[in-house]
Amino acid sequence: MFDHGRTLFITAFNRCDGQGRPATTGTGINREPNQPAFSRVSAPDSNACSGCHNQPRPGGAGDFVANVFVLAQAADPVLDTISDDFSNNRNTLGMFGAGPIEMLAREMTTDLQRIREDALAQAQVTDQPVTASLDTKGVHFGTLTAYPDGTLDTSHCEGVDADLIIKPFHQAGVVTSIREFTVNAMNHHHGMQAEEWFDLVQGSRDFDEDGVEQELTIGDITTATIWQAALGTPSRRMPDDPQLLALVERGEEAFAEIGCASCHVPELKLESRFFVEPNPFNPEGTFADGTQAFSFDMTQEGDSPRLERVGDGAVVRAYTDLKRHDLCDPTGLPDAIRFFCDEQLAQNQPDQDGKPGTEFFLTRKLWDVGNSAPYGHRGNLTTIAEAILMHGGEARASRDAFTELPFEDQQAVVDFLRTLQVLPQQSA
Ligand code: HEC
Ligand code: HEC
Repeated sequence: MFDHGRTLFITAFNRCDGQGRPATTGTGINREPNQPAFSRVSAPDSNACSGCHNQPRPGGAGDFVANVFVLAQAADPVLDTISDDFSNNRNTLGMFGAGPIEMLAREMTTDLQRIREDALAQAQVTDQPVTASLDTKGVHFGTLTAYPDGTLDTSHCEGVDADLIIKPFHQAGVVTSIREFTVNAMNHHHGMQAEEWFDLVQGSRDFDEDGVEQELTIGDITTATIWQAALGTPSRRMPDDPQLLALVERGEEAFAEIGCASCHVPELKLESRFFVEPNPFNPEGTFADGTQAFSFDMTQEGDSPRLERVGDGAVVRAYTDLKRHDLCDPTGLPDAIRFFCDEQLAQNQPDQDGKPGTEFFLTRKLWDVGNSAPYGHRGNLTTIAEAILMHGGEARASRDAFTELPFEDQQAVVDFLRTLQVLPQQSA
């Protein structure tokens, strides 16, 4: 399964495989047939997944040249513009550790939905509105209120959609599972269509009218998913020099002291160490039948370095809270930082206070930050220090605390972050 998944990820798809989607957009809508095989903007934009995901090897992040013009794929071929009016320009993320991330999101979703069910039950029993705090694994997602008639007020949920499903993938936090991403990416980037979407939901064996039927079976998508979920977990490369090591340790302490760790949570605990495919929260068009599940122990199988086992579960050192935040200072402030507020098209729902969905991004995982340059959702920053200085909004206090540190301590924070890396395979 691992081998087949890897093959699908690195294969340069050709027209016999079904590459191209002449009559279908990248979001799976019918259009006039005979559209071009490739468009750099609205895609198909690459011959293989690994065309973009290749730092430091297949499955990883990508350089600026591998950016995707997100949402252009919904249009008929966009051949002449990369203007922000048409798409959100995003840098390629790496999938090392994606299995643990997906399982964290599922456990958190289960917790949040249980809180909702308990509040609903209590409101019914007491005949009073019940307001519940949405907390899971130490992360606070605001509150919700349940009414005796079974309705809910979700306007005070924070950093998660009203359905309370943690969507840990895509920088705007809009995709539930590796599988959902894979089904979409196969169509979007390569015009390779998954039967679980196009045959079973759209009801067509050749929806994209390229003359090839059943391009990717449910089994194909399962293996591509499992392979990504079993990529090694990012780890740390510590310096040998004791002086540098002391700096790194100082940087790690300062990172917590100045509040970076309030969003970039150094470790979250998984109750289960197993990756189970498929994800029960998958949306329509993505296989979700749990009676046909496949699972593996993320602390025992897959590429190394692997997840660290603790008790029956595991610890995930990803430096994220899987919550969406607004890093935009309000306009009008004298030195407002709005660097990360460069998108025009909203992908996620507006958060509380009616702020636009364009301002919200998931706390970026930092466990591969040492070797996944360039930085920022657009990949238009070349150093870690610049990425820190561009934090405003909810992270303004912590960013200002960083600038107030003595220069050596600022350097130490960056030195600490540089130790977080995707290591070569086989190394411990
Ligand atoms: C043209 C470049 C490109 C190609 C080809 C590509 N991707 Fe991506 N991938 C991206 C970008 C850019 C992102 C980040 C998207 C965002 O944040 O909007 C991403 C994100 C992802 C993620 C989510 C990672 C995370 O942590 O959020 C997964 C999973 C993924 N890609 C899988 C695939 C698969 C599977 C293929 C092949 C079917 C593929 N990608 C092909 C550029 C690409
Ligand atoms: C309020 C939550 C929050 C706080 C506090 C915060 N961050 Fe972030 N951080 C984010 C989000 C969200 C992103 C993604 C920004 C984007 O690309 O749109 C991010 C991105 C980053 C990146 C870029 C990573 C990459 O690969 O592109 C670095 C580095 C980083 N943060 C370090 C820090 C440091 C150091 C601190 C403390 C001074 C800090 N952050 C405080 C939420 C936060």
